[in-house]
Amino acid sequence: MKSSINHLLLLSLIYFCGLFSNARAIPRQRPFNNTIPALLIFGDSIVDPGNNDYVGTILKANFPPYGRDFANRAATGRFTNGQLPTDYIISYVGIKDYMPPYLNRSLSIDELMTGVSFASAGSGFDPLTPRLFVHTLPNVTPLQKQLEHFQEYRKRIEDAIGKGKTINLIRKSVFLVSAGINDFSLNYFTTRLRRLNFSVSDYEKFVLQHLKEFIQGLLNQGATKIAVVGLPPLGCLPFIITSNTIPLTGRRCVERINSIARGYNVLLQSELHRLQNTTPDKETKIYYADFYRPLQDLIQNYQKYGFEEVSSGCCGTGILETSFLCNPKTPICSDVSKYIFWDSIHPTDRAYYFVFQAFRPLIDFIIKDAVATN
Ligand SMILES: *[C@@H]1O[C@H](CO)[C@@H](O)[C@H](O)[C@H]1NC(C)=O
Ligand SMILES: *[C@@H]1O[C@H](CO)[C@@H](O)[C@H](O)[C@H]1NC(C)=O
Ligand SMILES: *[C@@H]1O[C@H](CO)[C@@H](O)[C@H](O)[C@H]1NC(C)=O
Repeated sequence: MKSSINHLLLLSLIYFCGLFSNARAIPRQRPFNNTIPALLIFGDSIVDPGNNDYVGTILKANFPPYGRDFANRAATGRFTNGQLPTDYIISYVGIKDYMPPYLNRSLSIDELMTGVSFASAGSGFDPLTPRLFVHTLPNVTPLQKQLEHFQEYRKRIEDAIGKGKTINLIRKSVFLVSAGINDFSLNYFTTRLRRLNFSVSDYEKFVLQHLKEFIQGLLNQGATKIAVVGLPPLGCLPFIITSNTIPLTGRRCVERINSIARGYNVLLQSELHRLQNTTPDKETKIYYADFYRPLQDLIQNYQKYGFEEVSSGCCGTGILETSFLCNPKTPICSDVSKYIFWDSIHPTDRAYYFVFQAFRPLIDFIIKDAVATN
């Protein structure tokens, strides 16, 4: 068990087996006799399928051109042109086609029991992050509040199927946490508020302390399988390139910020190791999902994957627009399949598909692991 994280690191090293050249069809079967009943998702816009539609924030994406390549061209609140990585994952493991947002109050008990996302765009581990633009963007759901929503979710399931079965469902489910991008890219490097009081290395520790408390909160609620997604190459986000480079020198990734993301990911993995080793429940498994290398690989080797534009998004000028600044009046690029980024922060559906493919060895590993314990 102690070696499971090491094992996964190895697995993430062998991601990308050259099988991505063509079709996006996903096999409709449960690999390895999947015994995982549900995925429960927490975090920010990378995994928010539309929770912000239900709260009073202007940080939304439920209008065109968002969703133009989603089923029925629906602008669901996903911050991309199509599906999120978690939609690809839930479909791949054979549970259902899309990951629904928890805050849609019309979800049936069956829909709840097969997995929902509690994530909220604009959120982060640092409690200050969801409050950053409080005058203009209130009510983004902080991670702590997402945990409260999960407690409420648990109660609703208990009312429907009873306590014993609910405990069992939670034990067998996989929890996925993906946040931190806004803490560093918006909070620390853009508003620079936290920079007044924290060095980069102190801020990394501060964010990790909050992450640890969050994971502990999930463990206390009975979670036993938790995957934590690391930071992507933040210095390559079009918005970060815009705010950190002098125009005319050419747009390229900001290496200084990428190296901070890599450093954080190393610390995150040690923290997950520690959590794994100190948890009293011997069945608990904590996994690290590498987001850095898959996205970095797409950016560095973009031609291999059929992309042409790597440093600006498809929506608008591509160097600034996201959320309400990317709206029905904003012109978009002529061929989104050539773009890695949809807006100035978020990858396109096609880039997310490749990221999902890179996660596959880890997903298969978690499913195999679960067969042994579920
Ligand atoms: C799935 O389960 C069946 C019946 O238990 C077993 O025969 C088969 O080998 C399993 N398949 C995999 C891929 O584990
Ligand atoms: C909310 O969930 C219900 C039940 O699945 C679905 O019919 C409805 O379309 C969802 N609402 C939105 C806005 O997606
Ligand atoms: C920074 O520290 C000062 C003094 O302790 C405190 O008043 C302020 O709220 C802090 N600001 C941030 C953004 O952490």
